[in-house]
Amino acid sequence: MAEIRVELTKNPKAKPTDESKLGFGSIFTDHMLIINYDEGQGWHDARIVPYGPLSLDPSASCLHYGQEVFEGMKAYRAQDGSIRLFRPEENFKRLNSSNERLSIPHIDEELLLESLKKLIEVEKDWVPHQDGTSLYIRPFIIATDARLGVHAGHHYIYAVILSPSGAYYASGLQPVKIYVENKYVRAVKGGMGYAKTGGNYAASLKAQEEAHELGYEQVLWLDGVERKYIEEVGAMNVFFVIGDEIVTPMLNGSILPGITRKSVIEMLKSWGYNVSERRISVDELVEAHKNGQFKEAFGTGTAAVISPIGELRYGDTVMVLNDNRIGEISQKLYDNLTGIQWGKQEDPFGWSVKVCE
Ligand code: PLP
Ligand code: COI
Repeated sequence: MAEIRVELTKNPKAKPTDESKLGFGSIFTDHMLIINYDEGQGWHDARIVPYGPLSLDPSASCLHYGQEVFEGMKAYRAQDGSIRLFRPEENFKRLNSSNERLSIPHIDEELLLESLKKLIEVEKDWVPHQDGTSLYIRPFIIATDARLGVHAGHHYIYAVILSPSGAYYASGLQPVKIYVENKYVRAVKGGMGYAKTGGNYAASLKAQEEAHELGYEQVLWLDGVERKYIEEVGAMNVFFVIGDEIVTPMLNGSILPGITRKSVIEMLKSWGYNVSERRISVDELVEAHKNGQFKEAFGTGTAAVISPIGELRYGDTVMVLNDNRIGEISQKLYDNLTGIQWGKQEDPFGWSVKVCE
């Protein structure tokens, strides 16, 4: 394993004193991790340095053609005082899958995990204490070649920044209102939908703005071809409880293979629920709502955790779910998932990874 150099800041920042007001992703810690890639040398010079601006040539290709990927994960302060990650190897596997799609060179997953652990050890006092808070982790890679031709880069920066955070949605565990998007599309099969790359989020902003104007927090994407089948929400995968079946759209190349999604499926199966990964149309949801069979809906994601959906709007059809209250299955998943993440309960799946005491 390559050595990871550490340069500590001489000007540590004051840590937030009121952890109930952290919000999401706006406060950053004292240090960041950087690893460079240069053709011929590979990934090299892993280092932890004071947090600060990156220096880029104005022609850097990430700024023009969007060759970038990222990940989202969290470090939790567990009940026993230790600091833990949740299935971090899954995030690094997905980072390399995104790399592959964006023609970015593969990066050693062991180096990613070891260097992240080291960064978190340096920043462990930044992991917040209050219930529901965590240290959000944002690894990303950008192409830095200084030239305007459209080509895959020869030079990249991998960086990790950390942000003590509270709930992603201001409403916390209150049900969110979601707008079924029937004008814009996010991704199509053969595109980049399964990769975690900035372009997918840029494609979503306009739709999200218009949904906000109508009073909805996020949009639910439909497939880009028939505009019929459910894909995912802006920053989460989505599940529906219809009768005694729990359905989530199958991975089809245009949605993000969420790690929370995968964990929820494994948990529900271990409890004996009838879970299906299949194609599901918006018409099926409308029909199930009419028949009283549409019982619950929730989103899953690292930032969003388990986010109950209280209302879905499709055109003029408004579907209020479970009287706009958190459903039984959503609550059970939230309690068990966060129970494992915060070390409040047994971890029968071996998902929680201790970083330090
Ligand atoms: N879908 C999108 C578009 C996302 O941005 C996210 C968040 O990372 C997810 C799904 C959920 O993925 P995960 O559970 O791995 O955080
Ligand atoms: C996450 O859940 O980690 C995300 O990346 C979602 C969003 C903040 C883009």
